Amino acid sequence: MSTIDPDFKEKLTVVKNHEEYGYKIWGAFEPPKKLGIHGDRVAVDFDICIGDGACVDVCPEDVFEWVEYEGHDASTKKAAPAREDDCIECLACEDDCPVVAIKIYQM
Ligand code: F3S
Repeated sequence: MSTIDPDFKEKLTVVKNHEEYGYKIWGAFEPPKKLGIHGDRVAVDFDICIGDGACVDVCPEDVFEWVEYEGHDASTKKAAPAREDDCIECLACEDDCPVVAIKIYQM
C-alpha cells in the first residue's frame, strides 16, 4: 500500500489552486480518477485518503472540511485542508490517519 511521499514537493508541481479554499494542488488533477495532493502546510494525498475521518475528529483547530469527489476509487469523500494556516503542528492527524495520507510541513 502506498503512503504519502514526504518528498513530493521535489517531484511534483502545483497544477492549480483549490477553487473554494485556495490551497495548492500538486501532481495530476484529473477527476474523478486522479486527485493529487492537496495543501502545502497540511498536505493530504487525496488518491490515498479513504475518507476515514480520524483527521477531522482529532484536529484541535478544525483545519479540515469534507469535500466530495464522486467516482474516485479510494473513497468519494476527502478531508480537505481548508484552513491549513490554522495548523499548530500537533501532528495528531498525521499520526492517526490509518493509511498515512497526511504530511505536515513546519513553516
Ligand atoms: Fe482521509 Fe486519513 Fe483523514 S483516510 S479522511 S486523510 S484520517
